[in-house]
Amino acid sequence: MVFTFKNFPADRDDLRVDVLSGLAACPKSIPPKYFYDELGCRLFEAICAQPEYVLCRTEQALMTSRLSDIAAAIGPVDCIIEPGAGDCAKVRLLLDALHPTHLAVLDIAGAPLAAAAEPLYRDYPDLGVTALGMDFIHDLEAAAPYLPTGRRLVYYPGSSIGNFPPDAAATLLARFRRLAGTEGQLLIGFDLKKDPQQLHRAYNDAAGVTAAFNLNLLERLNRELNADFDPSRFRHYAFYNPAAGRIEMHLVSLAEQDVAVAGQNFHFALGETLHTEHSYKFRCDEFSAIAKTAGWPLKAEWEHDGFAIQLYG
Ligand code: AVJ
Repeated sequence: MVFTFKNFPADRDDLRVDVLSGLAACPKSIPPKYFYDELGCRLFEAICAQPEYVLCRTEQALMTSRLSDIAAAIGPVDCIIEPGAGDCAKVRLLLDALHPTHLAVLDIAGAPLAAAAEPLYRDYPDLGVTALGMDFIHDLEAAAPYLPTGRRLVYYPGSSIGNFPPDAAATLLARFRRLAGTEGQLLIGFDLKKDPQQLHRAYNDAAGVTAAFNLNLLERLNRELNADFDPSRFRHYAFYNPAAGRIEMHLVSLAEQDVAVAGQNFHFALGETLHTEHSYKFRCDEFSAIAKTAGWPLKAEWEHDGFAIQLYG
């Protein structure tokens, strides 16, 4: 196999620019993609192992039990492209079922991605693997020159699409469409609307891993942007907002305080929130309507235990 890794620079600068503008806004917010430094990636994997956070396990169970149907519906594929591949574990089922000649994994966390993609070398000796450390939300087009031609399947599992409000989700799906080409397909997994108490528990696990994941964002800013956040003066606060159809995750200031970030000062009133993530939940028809506006006709869908996988193309 040929293994190619390319890290697109300017990460650090984007972080600074986005964080400074997010902290200057009202209400304050930081994009969720910045959760994923090395520790954040590990904490996310630990979230997936929590008993309350069934999302990843339900998706894997659905993929495993319906794999032959899914593979038959997809048909022959030359290249699988997985944006936000993280630990590169999920795509293995598809590699086994579809036998593409090439896999391209993209992730904002470049170093962990390269480490995760390399072992594929051992298990799939005939597979070409391209790992791109890049912010695909910002600049997916930069990936195009590194991808082989042929029948492409974009794989976007894990309900990552839930981080985007419907408009932004449609924009990203339209970019996937351009990257996949008119012959291309999209296999996407997303969390369904369900009992709000169950959703609430998934983002408020008893072991406090989600809280640690949320608060690690402040530690990251301390490490990388010379900030002086005191994480003990912020509280993880996550809840399901049924009117908006999303989990909202916040860090709420427990005191009136000033924080320095990259040489600038920011004031937090007592009770003021720093909004860190939206995690949208959908109904199947709701999601296919969004995808349709992005140029993706629905081909097939599979559903199990509050999670859905849809195939487009
Ligand atoms: C990776 C975006 C799908 O929204 O459920 C998990 C991230 N945040 N717990 C999600 C997350 C808090 C996760 N996604």
